[in-house]
Amino acid sequence: MAAFILDGKKIANDIRAEVASEIRTLTAAGVRPGLAVILVGNNPASEIYVRGKVKTSEELGIYSEKLTPPPTISTEALLKIVADLNRRDEIDGILVQLPLPAQVDSKRVLMAVDPAKDVDGFHPMNVGFLSTQRPGLVPCTPAGIMEILRRSNIPIAGREAVVVGRSDIVGKPTAMLLLNANATVTVCHSKTRDLPAVCRRADILIAAIGRAGMITRDFVKPGATVIDVGMNKVTDAAEFNSLFAGDRKREDIFRTSGSTLIGDLHPQVAEVAGAITPVPGGVGPLTIAMLMANTVKAAKMRRGSRVPELSKA
Ligand code: GUN
Repeated sequence: MAAFILDGKKIANDIRAEVASEIRTLTAAGVRPGLAVILVGNNPASEIYVRGKVKTSEELGIYSEKLTPPPTISTEALLKIVADLNRRDEIDGILVQLPLPAQVDSKRVLMAVDPAKDVDGFHPMNVGFLSTQRPGLVPCTPAGIMEILRRSNIPIAGREAVVVGRSDIVGKPTAMLLLNANATVTVCHSKTRDLPAVCRRADILIAAIGRAGMITRDFVKPGATVIDVGMNKVTDAAEFNSLFAGDRKREDIFRTSGSTLIGDLHPQVAEVAGAITPVPGGVGPLTIAMLMANTVKAAKMRRGSRVPELSKA
């Protein structure tokens, strides 16, 4: 039987509606959440992501600012921009879009963001809060993955979870969230021996590698839930054919646009898994929804009890 498709777009829309309602309550109480996004250079993927972040902020009633310093900016100059945003009371969230140009010391810049405004959850203090189960700001994509699992009623406690990829942005924080939710967690990477065998242990498999179609059906235990965090553009016709030959819809997209977006899962995983997230329309929409939720959370946390008690987040 074909895998159940976990509809990330629908889940993200539900979260957006909940966040929009919180924003209305906050704004009525005189607190309009504000988000500043810093985009350096012209990485096409970053430009698309940032456009989505700013657009969604506006749709939900968050005040937003996009800062685009020149691609030649120095670490010191970027630190000054961050320091100014840290000081401004109307800015609740600061997001520095990654990657930064090579001349910039990214770790210093991320460390300079006020942890209370760190809506990406990348500051070492928030990383520490996550690993010690204290309240804080949690990275958006991992938080979104947990929302997909929870809102789809996929049990986590006591289950085997395998995370493929150990990035600071996705793999590591996702592993920590799954561990905090009482899964038995294995983190795999390029040096893992017999990756397919380790992945086959998973009740919940998280693919966050960044290689088109790398997770094939023999990595997947029948009935497992598989979350695809990959976003890979396929432009090569031979590669396309090896993945999608016979898929009319994809063939049409590829023929007209010359490319198609594919995750880390091979299409045949859908024949084995119990449930999968599609690409596009799976994890992607959750990342922005959780950024909005984090901005509201930061606005509330920074003001402590000075805002009305809201439902959650
Ligand atoms: N680049 C790719 N993903 C992300 C993300 O989640 N946040 C930021 N700031 N940059 C990214």
